[in-house]
This record gives sequence, C-alpha cells and structure tokens, in this order.
Amino acid sequence: MTTQLFQRFTLALCAVLLVGTSAAYAEDSKPHLANVMILATGGTIAGTGASSTTTVGYTAATVGVERLIAAVPELAKVASVKGEQVFQIASENMNNDYWLVLAKRVNVLLARADVDGIVITHGTDTLEETAYFLDLVVKSRKPVVLVGAMRPSTALSADGPINLYNAVLLAASADAVGKGVLVAMNDQIHAARDVTKTNTSTLDSFKTTELGLLGYIQGSKPFFYRTSSRKHTAEAEFDISNLATLPQVDIVYGYANMGPVALDAFVAAGAKGIIHAGVGDGSLASRVTPALISAHKKGVVIVRASRVGQGIVARNGEANDDELDFVVSDTLNAQKARILLMLALTKTSNTKDIQRMFYLY
Ligand code: DGL
Repeated sequence: MTTQLFQRFTLALCAVLLVGTSAAYAEDSKPHLANVMILATGGTIAGTGASSTTTVGYTAATVGVERLIAAVPELAKVASVKGEQVFQIASENMNNDYWLVLAKRVNVLLARADVDGIVITHGTDTLEETAYFLDLVVKSRKPVVLVGAMRPSTALSADGPINLYNAVLLAASADAVGKGVLVAMNDQIHAARDVTKTNTSTLDSFKTTELGLLGYIQGSKPFFYRTSSRKHTAEAEFDISNLATLPQVDIVYGYANMGPVALDAFVAAGAKGIIHAGVGDGSLASRVTPALISAHKKGVVIVRASRVGQGIVARNGEANDDELDFVVSDTLNAQKARILLMLALTKTSNTKDIQRMFYLY
C-alpha cells in the first residue's frame, strides 16, 4: 500500500472511530429517564364535554390512556412512560373490588426492576380514598402518584395535561421515593392520608387544610418541605395479595334529629364495622347510642369519627370509649377511617389493636 493511500486509510479509520465514540458519548450523555407506568382508571381527566366551555355536565371516563399520553408529548422529556388502561370508570363507581385489582397490579409492577414509579389517573370524586387505600397496601418505596383533573380534556384551560405532566415528573423523581402515596393536583404535592377534595368544581379543590401539603411542583421540579409522620406503604402491616374481598364497613352520618335507622340497616345487611361520622368531636346522639352498643355486642367494631373534617377525635371525649369499647378515628375523616378499619379487620377485631392502628397510620 503506497504511503499516501495508507495515510488516507488511517485518517478515514480515525474519523469513523471519532464519530462512533462521540455517538456513544452522546448516548451516554442523554440523561437516563426513569421508567414510569401510567395506569388509567377514568374520571374527568379522561372526560369530554360538548364544547370547550363545558366544565360541568361532561362525560367522564371516555378518553383512553394512549390519547392521554399523546396529548402531552412533553412527558418524553421527563420519563420513559408506558400506559395501561386498568379501568375506564367515573370514580363515584370506584369500589373495594376495583381497589383490590388496582393494588395487586401496582404491587406486581413495582416489583419489576424496569418500573421506577407509577402514576394513576383517576376521577377526583374518590381519588383521596384510592390514594389512601394504596398508601396502606403498596409494598414498595417507589413513588406512586395519583392525579386527576377538575376540567374535562376538551375544556378551555383543561388542567389534566399539566397535572399529568407534573405527576409523571414527580413519579420519576428520586425525591419522591419513600414519601408514601402522593397526590399531585394544581401544582401541589399532597400526602394520601391527609388530602381531601374541598370544592365540587374549582381547580384548587384538593387541599390538606390544616396538616399541610408536602410541597410544590414548579418549573418541572418537585420541591418537598415536609413528610408524613405516619406509617405507610412498605412499612404498613396490611397484605391484600391473597384477599378476594374486603370486610364490609359502612358510614353513618351525624346530623340534628339523627336516629338509628341507617345504622340498624347497615348492621342487618352484615356490616363488620361502622364509622360513626358524628357532629362536632364525634358526638353520639342519645337516640343512637343504644343501637351502637347493640351493634358492638353483635361483634361490629365501632369507630367514632367526625363529620367536621379537621382536628382530633379525642378518645373518651364526647363518649366513654373505654367503657363502650369503641375506637376513635384520630384525624382521619370518615371515608378514610372506613378504609383503615376495613384493612384492620382483615387482621383483627380486637379494638385495642385497631386503636393502635389508628394512631400509627
Ligand atoms: N365523575 C367524577 C369522577 O370521575 C368526575 C370528577 C372528576 O374526575 O374530576 O370522579
């Protein structure tokens, strides 16, 4: 080979190697994107209205998960996402059976090394309940983030796309690991245990009124300022992996002129637990107390909660819980107290052990 030809060959070889190396560096320099699964269940975030100004009176649960993802191409900048349509329901129809299917699917996915976090799109009506149920039964420290929308996908300034974007970047964030199940709505990060829907229709509906939100999502970054002090997820003692059903627990709502009819009906229908969402500090009307005592004598576990929504329901405050052998809900609202009592009853009916759980979770 002449010297000139050899020089050209060497130069060409160097050029190929240089391009190959820079491509490899380029590949390596691409930030690794976390793998986030989006499990869709329906709700307004998947809803459609007759016009762009329809923000009430629309149809929930009509848009599939692939269209939800396609509507937010920016997701590809923050995570490697895949979608799965678990259900397609308006969340007022969420129930124990759906919860068991969803929770088992979440635990299977989180056990996989190629899944770093999960986002669940959900109707807002029962979003806080699904979030708290998962907070107690998910067996992983990986992020699980629930997200919904107050406006349908077809509305002017729909909040679904930005809420979904925020939820995915939160689920992809190392900062969200070990924080328990989170709710990402309206640029805010809430703990599943304490967040609740406070308005029928406004964008800022989800609030953690007194115990405080955990942080914000701003400029595509999560900012945490606090963590929940209660046990959750991998630290929780509940295991639903072999459960086909959950114990029936119902809620009676307190009000002036309340009587025992609803309570007696729930007990006759086989309730294993009753949440009494009393007025004030969980007060019991004298017309209802005998029915509660009778129910407990039949083995029904009674939890004194409050309709008020904030504050501690104090043990032995408005009733002699030690004497009645009732449990108090601490700061859980009635719908969340129902979830914890249901799971507690999968393990025990001992009221002292159940009270321990209400002070732990
Ligand atoms: N039907 C309600 C639900 O699916 C709509 C409310 C919403 O998702 O924002 O929860």
